[in-house]
Amino acid sequence: MRNEILEYFRKANGQFVSGEQISKDLNVSRTAIWKHIKILKSRGYIFESSTRKGYRLIYEPDLLTPLEIESVLHTKNFGRHIVYMESTASTNEVAKELARKGAEEGSIVVAEEQRSGRGRLQRGFYSPFAKGIWFSLILRPDFFPMEASKSTLLAAVGVCRAVRSLGLPNAAIKWPNDIMVNGRKLVGILTELSASMEKIDYIIMGIGINTGMERADFPEAFREGATSFRAEGVHVSRKTLLAAVLSELEKEYAVAETEGFARVLDNWRNLSCTLGQSVRVVLGTNSYTGKAVDIDKDGCLLVDTGNEVNRVIAGDVSI
Ligand code: BTN
Repeated sequence: MRNEILEYFRKANGQFVSGEQISKDLNVSRTAIWKHIKILKSRGYIFESSTRKGYRLIYEPDLLTPLEIESVLHTKNFGRHIVYMESTASTNEVAKELARKGAEEGSIVVAEEQRSGRGRLQRGFYSPFAKGIWFSLILRPDFFPMEASKSTLLAAVGVCRAVRSLGLPNAAIKWPNDIMVNGRKLVGILTELSASMEKIDYIIMGIGINTGMERADFPEAFREGATSFRAEGVHVSRKTLLAAVLSELEKEYAVAETEGFARVLDNWRNLSCTLGQSVRVVLGTNSYTGKAVDIDKDGCLLVDTGNEVNRVIAGDVSI
């Protein structure tokens, strides 16, 4: 019913419509209309109300409905099948379920809000309504399971290029896959895998990009370390950004499939803000510092401590 009410207001083209009229035309009570308008307002829609004339819709937020995304999408496969949700616990969980049931490669799950978004290393990921892009992409690559961990670097390359092209030219990748802008995190990527010894069943690429938060909107714990397009002073259309990300991911994925990962790793090196820097590596309760000198053919970070070169497979690296 909410969509019908919205459609009704759209057709009114910015003119006032009375509660009585909508109620009659849509055959729904005035209380129900009022409740739906209240919900729409909480979703970012702006209505003007007049006791005499009723309501008029004056602003619609930039939502990521399939219709909106498809209107700007230029990919062949990625994002051609969209599962859209206003709210879900985590798009990665929904995508896994769909992948298990056979969803095709390139399908995406997009949510306006995640109630318990998940991050790397068992952390949470803050995903408030319509203030970012929270989505998961289902892949079914031909490459060997051993190669799968590198797809997380591939994701970082694609997302970083898209972000750079839409107003944040100094975005760069912090190993393995955070996209940073001016020292703060703009994007998080969580890649999950289901595979046997010989074959990848599916990969879920979960990507979260902060777009509309102001600095004060972030929970205090990561306010200092996080950023968004808006906090960087850049306006971005979420659907345009999502379409650009999907195009870049599709391109980079084709590179990996046809030319192998060496090219992807080179692209990663060129976009990295970690290499050449002095870093702190935290592995559980242990930590050490050194210089990040390169990534190896498996995507592991090579850190020169002065005495030895350590190969970092997982963990937290701060610059
Ligand atoms: C990280 O920075 O630790 C990774 C964050 C990944 C967040 C994205 S948002 C869409 C997808 N669904 C999730 O629950 N997590 C990923």
